[in-house]
Amino acid sequence: MQIKDTAAIVTGGASGLGAATAARLAAGGAKVFAFDLPASIEGAPQVDGVEYVAVDVTDPEQVQAAVDTAAGAGVPLRTVVNCAGIGPSTRILGKKGPHDLALYAKVIQVNLVGSFNVLTLAAEKIAATEGDEHGQRGVIINTASIAAYDGQVGQAAYSSSKGGIVGLTLPAARDLAQYGIRVMTIAPGIVETPMLATVSEEFRESLAKGVPFPQRLARPDEYAQLAQSIIEHDYLNGEVIRMDGSLRMAPR
Ligand SMILES: NC(=O)c1ccc[n+]([C@@H]2O[C@H](COP(=O)([O-])OP(=O)(O)OC[C@H]3O[C@@H](n4cnc5c(N)ncnc54)[C@H](O)[C@@H]3O)[C@@H](O)[C@H]2O)c1
Repeated sequence: MQIKDTAAIVTGGASGLGAATAARLAAGGAKVFAFDLPASIEGAPQVDGVEYVAVDVTDPEQVQAAVDTAAGAGVPLRTVVNCAGIGPSTRILGKKGPHDLALYAKVIQVNLVGSFNVLTLAAEKIAATEGDEHGQRGVIINTASIAAYDGQVGQAAYSSSKGGIVGLTLPAARDLAQYGIRVMTIAPGIVETPMLATVSEEFRESLAKGVPFPQRLARPDEYAQLAQSIIEHDYLNGEVIRMDGSLRMAPR
């Protein structure tokens, strides 16, 4: 599918994987709407072709208004890349007792429900556009994680949310096939983004050493490159692609 002269929504577009994807799609000629929380937008760089929209992906009314803005851009809304997410780490039974249920629910709410919220409301708008010459109207890319498969100690909530994204991929692709909308998921390994900013250089090096090849952390633009490839490759649908240098995470 063509990127030029279309509109694209990128959630979490003010940071990390989302910011790299927003910049890449804008460079490819898309009008990009980067949905993110106000605090993240405040510190985000201005990028040609990227318009920031303050929105909490878990809020249906905010997302509806933001999706309406993207759908009214004057070019057809074709792409959604869901990158908004949070990744706290807590053990099921820790020194302070059992896992906080509210924290578990919040991670599911942001990572899984938030992605579904944007997917459904944007799908309605994409389905209403004129299809291209192949009857294709759009592509929705969600972000899981290799933690969906190889969740480590402390990742019960995060892995549950990302497992939900993996499970959503095929039925969403099947539901939306009749509208010419493809649904794909990227499951990244360890990518050098602000989510990793808090870890020490030593720990970062040890993470890189655990990756078979290339023996380094992934770069945000490698995620963006894969998102672009998925958008442009019309036969990719209903599948999860790991982008991890063949890393399989150890228990801790
Ligand atoms: N960095 C990695 O190594 C890695 C690996 C696997 C998966 N992922 C996944 O990739 C996605 C992006 O991660 P990242 O590393 O770029 O993180 P990041 O923290 O740099 O960016 C995430 C963005 O999501 C936004 N966000 C959080 N909650 C939101 C909400 N309720 N509404 C709107 N925006 C919200 C944040 O403000 C932030 O700008 C996440 O879903 C993460 O779980 C990251």
